[in-house]
Amino acid sequence: MRAIDENTITDAALEQMSLTPNPRLKEIMASLVRHLHAFTREVDLTPEEWLEGIRFLTAVGQKCTAHRQEFILLSDTLGLSSLVNALHDKRATESATKSSLLGPFYRQDAPMMKLGDSIISRSKGSEVVFYGRVLDSAGRGIPNALVQIWEPDETGNYDLQKHDPSVMDLRGCFHADSEGRYYFRGLCPFGYMIPMDGPVGDMIRAQKRHGYRPAHIHFVIGAPGYRELVTALYVAGDDHIDSDTVFGVNESLIISVNKNDPASPLPKLPSIRYDFRLAAASKQDRSGRVGADPSQITTKA
Ligand code: BEZ
Ligand code: FE
Repeated sequence: MRAIDENTITDAALEQMSLTPNPRLKEIMASLVRHLHAFTREVDLTPEEWLEGIRFLTAVGQKCTAHRQEFILLSDTLGLSSLVNALHDKRATESATKSSLLGPFYRQDAPMMKLGDSIISRSKGSEVVFYGRVLDSAGRGIPNALVQIWEPDETGNYDLQKHDPSVMDLRGCFHADSEGRYYFRGLCPFGYMIPMDGPVGDMIRAQKRHGYRPAHIHFVIGAPGYRELVTALYVAGDDHIDSDTVFGVNESLIISVNKNDPASPLPKLPSIRYDFRLAAASKQDRSGRVGADPSQITTKA
């Protein structure tokens, strides 16, 4: 019989899992166990500290509802979501716009709108027109690409965070035209603090982090035959552009508001212009979404 001690326990656990038929599950679980054990030895984890960790993860799970995903928030604030996004981008076979966080406030049932419509139904704030094209890697427009958008209101809250999350505001879906052009009206993006009233907020405070995200607006863009793009645009000059709590900013995603833009489809409004590039889908591509509509996670398939 194998003597179990702090060194032999890792091989013992790996041996028990070695018959896992699914090769990817086997690889992921074996690596997870090796890294978890190495971490535990490195910090010389005590029983009280381990229990505190279990308490924390329990509280993260208990905070989740159909409208709130505290585990995604935890992944985001640890930099894990951004790392998974970067690895996903690296796997693309063509160059494309960089991914950014989906975050916990996406929902897949946003209303379908017509090009030029406003996604603002209740909020106040200065209106801007967002416009540009959805292109392939050779710069050709992708006709009819589906563009999904959501952004927070002037108080820094998404509709999902309000008292009645069934009321939708500041979200919409648009089909690009035959040359891949899109345009819609929305609020000039606001920055905000991530939800701090749960265990992830406790962690952020314990680490003396500010908890803010720079002003941004989210996009999910897809078309048949292309890798779905999950990204966001960030407003230049925001105080937190270099210290996003969830590590979503990439220089290539920073935009500015243009107050005088004759090329805009609605030249009387300030404008934000951005062309998105999608890579062709390859056979091994699965979803590029790091995160999900919270209600899809809490609902059993
Ligand atoms: C967001 O941008 O909506 C978001 C992303 C990660 C954590 C919290 C919020
Ligand atoms: Fe956001």
